[in-house]
Amino acid sequence: VAAREVLGFLGGTGPLGRGLALRLAVAGHPVVLGSRDAERARAAATSLRATATGAGAAAAVEAEGEENRAAAARADVLFVCVPADGLRYALEQVAPAVRDDTLVISAVNALAFDGEARAVPVEGVSSAQLCARLLPQARVTAAFHTVSAPKLEDLDAQLEGDVAVCGNADDRSRVIALADAIPRLRGVHAGSLTQAGTLEALTALIIAVNRHYKRSVGMRFTNL
Ligand SMILES: NC(=O)c1ccc[n+]([C@@H]2O[C@H](COP(=O)([O-])OP(=O)(O)OC[C@H]3O[C@@H](n4cnc5c(N)ncnc54)[C@H](OP(=O)(O)O)[C@@H]3O)[C@@H](O)[C@H]2O)c1
Repeated sequence: VAAREVLGFLGGTGPLGRGLALRLAVAGHPVVLGSRDAERARAAATSLRATATGAGAAAAVEAEGEENRAAAARADVLFVCVPADGLRYALEQVAPAVRDDTLVISAVNALAFDGEARAVPVEGVSSAQLCARLLPQARVTAAFHTVSAPKLEDLDAQLEGDVAVCGNADDRSRVIALADAIPRLRGVHAGSLTQAGTLEALTALIIAVNRHYKRSVGMRFTNL
């Protein structure tokens, strides 16, 4: 992904959208946080710029806030960072604005919490596959499911791990470049979008590990 490409974030006011946008803005990408409410998006962008400036990343950081549809219209790369139960609504709202060949990255984990977390398909498919169904003009990938949002938001946190990326091979390479732009994360080719459901289920497993050890673990593939 070229440095001047605009990264948009649906649900960019939540912890994951804020955290990914912060890290990638610090890495030099212009970001546009989306929200159902433009004012909330602008406030999140102001806060992001302040955090980046406080961390000494000042000059290069470009962050703005817009209503979701406007953010989608501006995005060369569109991160989907809304809860699974708002996914269809959010995508239907923005679909007419998403340009042909926009690279879409779904980080949505469709999970149910009944005693412990477990993956539940949305409308019979993974969240990423639902994105592909509702945004047929876009290039949909799945990634960043297992990254900790609080650690992304804390520029001093020890963020570490692999980011498994599903989609077609060319699109995966672009997403991997973004993952690699965040210090100590490593993007990994992880098959077609068919695998995205496995990735979401893996998040449920990681939550079970986190719960037992009372910490936020990362994921690492060995022998790569
Ligand atoms: N938190 C994590 O550590 C983490 C890590 C990896 C992946 N994920 C996945 O990433 C996604 C975002 O996680 P999050 O923790 O940032 O979620 P969140 O705080 O629950 O939601 C993110 C944003 O989505 C918007 N939203 C909420 N309900 C919506 C609805 N019904 N329709 C449309 N928009 C809605 C809200 O923004 P506005 O009110 O401003 O519109 C909210 O700030 C989730 O699918 C989650 O499974 C999370």
